[in-house]
Amino acid sequence: MSPLIFASFQALSPNGVIGSSWRDPSNTQIDYLTIEHWTELAKKLESGGFDFLFFADTFGYPTLDGELIPFAVEAGYNVPMADPITIVSAIAAATSKLGVVLTNSTTHEKPAALARRFATLDHFTKGRIGWNIVSGGGQSSSTALFGEPMIPHDERYLQADDYLQICLRLWEGTWADDALRVDRESGVYADPDGVRQVSYEGNYLRTKGILNVPPSPQRTPLLLQAGTSSAGRDFAAHYAECVFVGGGDPAVVARNITAIRDRAEEIGRPRESVKFLVGAGFVVGTSQAEAQRKYENLLGFATLEHAAATFAWSTGVDLLKFDLDKPLPELRSDIGQTSLDRFRSPDGNGPTVREILEDYRQHGINGTTFVGTPETVADEVEAFVAATGADGFLVQQHITPGTHDDFIELLRPVLLKRGLMRPTREDVTLREQLLDAGPRVAATHPGAQLKFKTTADA
Ligand SMILES: Cc1cc2nc3c(=O)[nH]c(=O)nc-3n(C[C@H](O)[C@H](O)[C@H](O)COP(=O)(O)O)c2cc1C
Repeated sequence: MSPLIFASFQALSPNGVIGSSWRDPSNTQIDYLTIEHWTELAKKLESGGFDFLFFADTFGYPTLDGELIPFAVEAGYNVPMADPITIVSAIAAATSKLGVVLTNSTTHEKPAALARRFATLDHFTKGRIGWNIVSGGGQSSSTALFGEPMIPHDERYLQADDYLQICLRLWEGTWADDALRVDRESGVYADPDGVRQVSYEGNYLRTKGILNVPPSPQRTPLLLQAGTSSAGRDFAAHYAECVFVGGGDPAVVARNITAIRDRAEEIGRPRESVKFLVGAGFVVGTSQAEAQRKYENLLGFATLEHAAATFAWSTGVDLLKFDLDKPLPELRSDIGQTSLDRFRSPDGNGPTVREILEDYRQHGINGTTFVGTPETVADEVEAFVAATGADGFLVQQHITPGTHDDFIELLRPVLLKRGLMRPTREDVTLREQLLDAGPRVAATHPGAQLKFKTTADA
């Protein structure tokens, strides 16, 4: 089996994905609003061989029928969440190899603003930045916050398509490779023939202008995507270089991965050019009993109300209103359909509402937790990869620094011995590290067609 990609799943909030883990006295994540917390963690992840640090993010928070769920506030669960972009420069200064991937939604902010910010960060990180493109979880609260109407689910992906068309034109099409001269002698800072306004008229978004940041190492940041509805899969097949998928039943994960690879191939991208990372929990101990104890400790901070709050965030549906011992009826939601479909079987005999809540309580939104010794976890990782075709994992944070210390000190030596982790490299961009490709988008990616063309090229 070839080496896998490993990233750390984080958010600027006091918890990991399971329960109110901030209550554990050893959890330093409680310091998430200090710069030192993140720079120290980033250094640890870098020396521990992680490929990148991933920041989940959302403007949304759990609401039901437009009202804030008081439990979420009381438990510090999904509320609060601070803006991760503010910490990236500090992490860039403290590290030299670790990638940083930021989540930004295509729903609320105009694309030119995002393109400029990521271009600047691509300079500051020396090409180590990636963008996790989401159409946005927590839509009902985030659209209310921005004073906007909620766009229907599939239409959000049409808007996201306009969004990418604009960003790619700005990143790839504004500056010629040799436009920047900075020649003090002649007084030419940049060649005006090498800088062009780009334009795009979509149904949802439009632009005419330049990216006002000189070319950065990757130009287009590494593009990642999360969202596996059918519209989400189609969008991923067009634009994503890496896709985040939830864990859970390996057969379902494999189906999602194959569907996106098939679609990518249909539209002219090699199927292996899209990498897949699975969100999963890792609870590792020196014995099975110790790992189980750590997991039980974590679950002691998680209730069915935590599970219901996360489900409400992603779907707008209050599971606690249903008969807990019956399967969930067929429901449609413009906030998010993926979590509703995941637990429905076509014959109506899906899991009961209580089982759905237990699944969320025990695994968080992403559905897979490996609990065991380094050897048993490595066995399970290998089996999961063989069954799904995944390329790596987003290691969900539970207790800081315990989750990562256990991963680095206990599991990593076994993964290295089995050739499942690879060395991170100095002086390469995130794209080169993850895709074994050049620093720029591949020739088969839609961004490549939008590169600045000289009159001779045109
Ligand atoms: C591993 C993983 C991480 C994700 N991180 C975020 C995130 O940080 N913010 C967000 O709004 N959505 C995130 N999502 C995706 C949302 O769940 C997605 O926007 C939602 O599923 C709606 O898209 P869909 O209906 O196409 O699935 C993540 C999904 C996965 C599998």
